[in-house]
Parts: sequence; C-alpha cells; structure tokens
Amino acid sequence: MKFTKLPVNQRATDLNRKVEAITNGVIRAYDGAKARIGLRGRRADYDDHAYEFVGGAKDSLRRRHYDKSLRLLWKAEQAAPWSSFRDATDGERALMGMAERGMTDAERAARVRVSSAEFRELLDREYTLTEKKAIVAILSAIGHGEAYAWLVSASMIDEVKSTGARAAVTMQVLEEAKHFVVLRELVQAFGVEVPRQSAWEYLLLEGCLKARGLDRFFGMNVLVETIALSIFGLLSDKPGLEVLRLFHLDESRHTALPDNYLREFPLTDWQRKDPRARLRRFLMALPALPLVLHLEPELAELGTDVFEFGGSVMRKAVHLAERGGFTLVISGKQMLALFNAAFNAYCSLTREGHVWRDYMASDTTHGEAEAAVEREIFGPPTAVAQHAA
Ligand SMILES: [Fe+2]
Ligand SMILES: [Fe+2]
Repeated sequence: MKFTKLPVNQRATDLNRKVEAITNGVIRAYDGAKARIGLRGRRADYDDHAYEFVGGAKDSLRRRHYDKSLRLLWKAEQAAPWSSFRDATDGERALMGMAERGMTDAERAARVRVSSAEFRELLDREYTLTEKKAIVAILSAIGHGEAYAWLVSASMIDEVKSTGARAAVTMQVLEEAKHFVVLRELVQAFGVEVPRQSAWEYLLLEGCLKARGLDRFFGMNVLVETIALSIFGLLSDKPGLEVLRLFHLDESRHTALPDNYLREFPLTDWQRKDPRARLRRFLMALPALPLVLHLEPELAELGTDVFEFGGSVMRKAVHLAERGGFTLVISGKQMLALFNAAFNAYCSLTREGHVWRDYMASDTTHGEAEAAVEREIFGPPTAVAQHAA
C-alpha cells in the first residue's frame, strides 16, 4: 500500500505528545492511588498495558462458550418460520431454498414453511384447550425467567474477570435476548391468556437479580436455568415446540458456565464456607420448591409427575452447585435426602396408595439428543443420584 504522506508540524506534535504523556501520568497516578486506598479508581476492569481485561485472556473460556455459541448460533427465521423474525442472511435464505429444492416431496412437505396462521391451526389441531393452557402456564413461567436471565447475564458482564469470560457472558446476553423475544411469540401463538409471574417465581427471579456478585451465577445459571433446561427437555419433542431443542442446547451451555468459570477463578474458602453466604444462597433457592409445586396441575395435564420433575431438577442443580463450590446450609447429599423425604411425606398425605420412591433418581427429559446433552453436563442420571445419595 502506498500512502501519500501529508506534512506535519513536528514542534506542535511533540508538544501535544508531551501534554498527553503528563496528563496520562497524572490520571493513572490519581486513579491508582484511589484504588490503593479502597476507593474506585479506574471504572473499567481493563488493562490497556496488556491489551486485555483484568484476569487475562482465558482463551479456554472463550473457546468453550463464545466460539461454541457462534458455531451453534441459530436464527428464528430458520428455526421458527411461522414467527415474525427476519433474521436470516441472504446466504442462509439461499441455502434454505437450495435445501428445500434437494428434498423429496415428503421431506419438503414436512419442512414446509408454515405461516403464522397455519402454525396456530397446527396448535389447535394437536392440543385441547386445557393442554394449551397448561403448556402456556409452563412456558410463560420460563418466558418471564428469560427476561430476568437477560437482565442478570447483562449484569454479569461487569462481574466476571478475563477477556474470555466476558466474551462468554456476552454471548449469553445475546442468547437470552433471543430466547425472550422468540419464546414470547411462541407462547402468544397458543392464543390463550398468558399468566403473570406466580409469587414464587417473582421472589426467585427478583432474588437472583438482587443477589451479590457471583451468587447471581448460582441463582440464575445453576438454579433457574436448570429448571428451564429441564422444561425444554420435557417439551421439545411435542408438536410445534421443536424450536425448544435449540433453547435446550443454549441453556446447557449457560448452566455449564459457572463451573467452567470457577475452575479458572475458584471461590475462596471463605466465599464457600461463610455461614451468611450459605444461608443467603439457601434462602435464594427456597422459592424454587413452591414454584415447581405450583405447576403440579399443568405438569399433570401433560402426563408428568411434578415430584419426578422436581427431583430431576434438584439432582441436576445440586450437582452443579456442589461442583462450583456454592455450598448451602446443608450438604447436597443431605439436601437431596431431606427433600426426597419431604416429597414422599407430601405424596403419602395427598395421594392414595402412595409407595415410597426415590424421586431424586428420576429424569423427565425426553428425546435422545437432549438426554445426551444433559449427560455431558450432569453425567448419567443413576451415577449422579448414587453419588449424591
Ligand atoms: Fe434462556
Ligand atoms: Fe440461559
């Protein structure tokens, strides 16, 4: 490249550079001194000497979350052609057309781009009104959760250290935004009233957003997203809900993020064991139990026992919490035993002929692909249950 160099007044340049160097020295010294005495100096946790965020590159986190998220990035226009989204590129649209041309008539019929009205007809054909109401109650609970996942993940960008972790969380923010807007259209397509948040959901999600520091990882990524993952795993094989497989894949990465992050930046012994922090986390998790119980009639309508679902969620969440070092007031093993006893006691009182069973060993995820994804994060269900029991 040949540039045409312009003349520059060297004396003026030298003076400008000197002024900048002195100003820079003063600013850095002032902010450095403030930071040393515990006042916030530089606002950004950014190290421009190293050209890196504080905490270093941590490329492994970037590869496992940012790179992978971009590889698996899906577009609503392709995955939910009945929606109002027009987010595919020209190239993606051309590929969709080519793929359709190469299909047999039967394949094309199965993949036919359904309009919004046709999609509503499909839902009306496949589900009774009561089933639609049950699906909307369950999915909208997750839909409200997606709004909070968006807010919490955005707040985590300034909480995590390293370039890799920030890139990872940034992808979560993008995915949660997509989850919220796409799920909202899916829920609204059912054409029944969308319930507001239950009291338990309100308490759980507000608790996550208000939590301190990395406790937001525990509340949102470990607890709430394990509930979401389990619901997507339960519903993604149902007619019209196939797009939830993609949500399930995204949520699996989000639930794995705290563990991958805390391997690089482990919690201190005090952060794990501080009795006040353990109590705070326990109280934050508490509304999850009545929240799941609250959905008993809707889950029953879809043929799922709420305690099997709850046990499956608890086993997965406890496994992730322990791996990340998020200890609660009692150990994971005690927690699972206690809740198994409570579930059985409740069933003895409310269900005729109840026989004791290990709800913590159950798994309500349908679909081979979804089960394989979960095995990668949680290990085989029985092995985890045995480890925890
Ligand atoms: Fe999400
Ligand atoms: Fe998520």
